[in-house]
Amino acid sequence: MAELNLALGAMRFGSETDERTSFEILDRFVDAGGTLIDTANCYAFWTNPEREGGHSERVIGAWLARRPGVRDRVLISTKLGSQPVGDGEWPGNREGLSAPAVKSAVEGSLRRLGIDHVDLLWTHMDDRSVPLDETVQALAELAESTTVGRLGASNLALWRVERSRRIAEANGWTGYTALQLRHSYLRPRPGAPVPDHNHRLGWVTDETLDYVGAERDLAVWAYTPLLSGAYTRDDRPLSEAYDHPGTTRRLAALAKAADDLGVTRNEVVLAWLTGGAPPVTPIVGVSSVAQLDEAMTGAALVLPPELRAELDAAV
Ligand SMILES: NC(=O)c1ccc[n+]([C@@H]2O[C@H](COP(=O)([O-])OP(=O)(O)OC[C@H]3O[C@@H](n4cnc5c(N)ncnc54)[C@H](OP(=O)(O)O)[C@@H]3O)[C@@H](O)[C@H]2O)c1
Repeated sequence: MAELNLALGAMRFGSETDERTSFEILDRFVDAGGTLIDTANCYAFWTNPEREGGHSERVIGAWLARRPGVRDRVLISTKLGSQPVGDGEWPGNREGLSAPAVKSAVEGSLRRLGIDHVDLLWTHMDDRSVPLDETVQALAELAESTTVGRLGASNLALWRVERSRRIAEANGWTGYTALQLRHSYLRPRPGAPVPDHNHRLGWVTDETLDYVGAERDLAVWAYTPLLSGAYTRDDRPLSEAYDHPGTTRRLAALAKAADDLGVTRNEVVLAWLTGGAPPVTPIVGVSSVAQLDEAMTGAALVLPPELRAELDAAV
C-alpha cells in the first residue's frame, strides 16, 4: 500500500480540541496508516490570556506515553521561533531564531513531547534580527546530533531558503529539506497577506513549486489546505485574499470534478495537492474523526488526468 501523503495538523489539540477528541483523532490516523504529525511549540498561545503555547505538544506527549510502541510508527514535526516571550505585541516579542533561542526551544519541545528526538524541526517564521549563518549553524548542530532528524523552513522567503541552503552546503552542514507554506486549490490575490498572519511571504507560489521541482531533495507541506472548511461550509466564508475572478472559475472546476467523481470538494482539493507535480503534503487541521476520514480518503484519491488538466486550466 502506498504511504499516506497527509500530515495531521495538531495546532488545536489541547486547546480548542480537548484531549479525549485529540487522542481519538491520533488513534484513528495511526490505525489508518498515517505517520506525519505536525505541531509547534507555540500552539496555541492565542487561546489564553498568558499567551503561552505548549498545549499541542503536551497532548501529543501524553498520547505517545499512553500508547506504547506508537513512537516508532509516527514522525513528529514541530516548529520553533514564534512563541511569545516577555511583554510587547506578537510577532515583535517572539523567541526568534538566535542560537540560544533555537537550543532552548528544542529542549522545551522535547520535554513536552516526552521524546528524545524530533523527526522534522521547522523554523516557524523568519527572524531578520539574527544573522542567517547563526540560525543555519544552530539548526545544523541539532541535526548533526541525534536530536533532530531533518530541518524545514516555514513562512520563509524563497531567497532566504536558497541562501540558507547554500550556507549549509558551503560548510558541509545539514540544511533545510522541507518548506511549509499556506497552499490550497484556490489561489490568493497577488499581494494579499496570509490570513491571520502579519506577512505576505507564507504562500506557495508558482515559483515555490518550480524551485521544489528543480531541487530534488526538497519537500513542500501545505498548511490550511481546506481553507478552514470554506469549500463545503456556509459558516466558513472565504478569506478576502481569495476575492478575485479566478476564484469563481476554480470553484466551478472544483464542483464539476467533485460531481463527476461522486466525491466531496475537500477530497478533490486534497487529491489535487497530493497528486501534483511536485506532490504536496497537505497538513489538515481536523477536529473530529469524521473530518479526518474525509481527509484521508481525499489524500489517497488519484484524479484522472483529464480532470486534473481541467482543474489546472481554471485560472
Ligand atoms: N506553519 C504555519 O505557519 C501554519 C499556519 C497554520 C496552520 N499550520 C498547520 O496546518 C494545520 C492545519 O491548518 P488549519 O487548521 O488552519 O487548516 P485546515 O485544515 O484548512 O482547517 C481546519 C478546520 O477546518 C474545518 N474542517 C477540517 N476538515 C473538514 C471537513 N472535512 N469538513 C468540514 N470542515 C472541515 C475544521 O473546523 P472545525 O474544527 O470548526 O469543525 C478544522 O478545524 C495546523 O494544525 C498546523 O499544524 C501551520
